[in-house]
Amino acid sequence: MSAGALHSYFEQPASFTFTEANHKKIAELVAKYPKGRQASAVMPLLWLAQQQHDNWIPEAAMEEIARILEMPKIKVFEVATFYTMYNLAPRGKHHLQFCTTTPCWLRGSSDVVGACEKHLGIKLGETTPDGQFTITDVECLGACVNAPVVQYNGDEFYEDLNAQNVVEVIEMLKRGEKPKKGSQIGRQGSTSEVGATSLFDQAEKAGIKKAGK
Ligand code: FES
Repeated sequence: MSAGALHSYFEQPASFTFTEANHKKIAELVAKYPKGRQASAVMPLLWLAQQQHDNWIPEAAMEEIARILEMPKIKVFEVATFYTMYNLAPRGKHHLQFCTTTPCWLRGSSDVVGACEKHLGIKLGETTPDGQFTITDVECLGACVNAPVVQYNGDEFYEDLNAQNVVEVIEMLKRGEKPKKGSQIGRQGSTSEVGATSLFDQAEKAGIKKAGK
């Protein structure tokens, strides 16, 4: 895929320059790798570009990174398009990335996504007209034990979602409140949903109820 074909439906800035402060950070990042291996810094540079540019990376920034790291542009594009942590298009203020991989799907991610789409009036990959919410789907977020899971703005997870509590999460975000991180059904960490089924001594010390109690 050519860089120009990535996202032709919104305006791409003609150029991109890192700030002075970010140039200093880039020098520090590049210095961590052996001479001639500066291309290894491509991921943190993409992250810096995203942070600097309103949470998305324009093609001009990828070209600038290729220039700085003396690597082919296509290699920068390959990395940026592979990882869902990089946004290649503008995102809403609230970016919800729903895991729809098998464990989350088995535990109801389709219902969760459907409820979210219905509540916000948009489909996966879209942003609400007011620019507040973007919803996307991603592969396994590494929290399958508390599936279904959504990642919020790149760093917080809301887990044990269902068609009801995902709407509550959205409404809290709309009101400017912070939903509780982790399980939305009161599960302690990743313990069994029904309570402890073994290791009762340790469970009691940790304040975890026994299954069936
Ligand atoms: S499958 Fe959804 S977090 Fe792993």
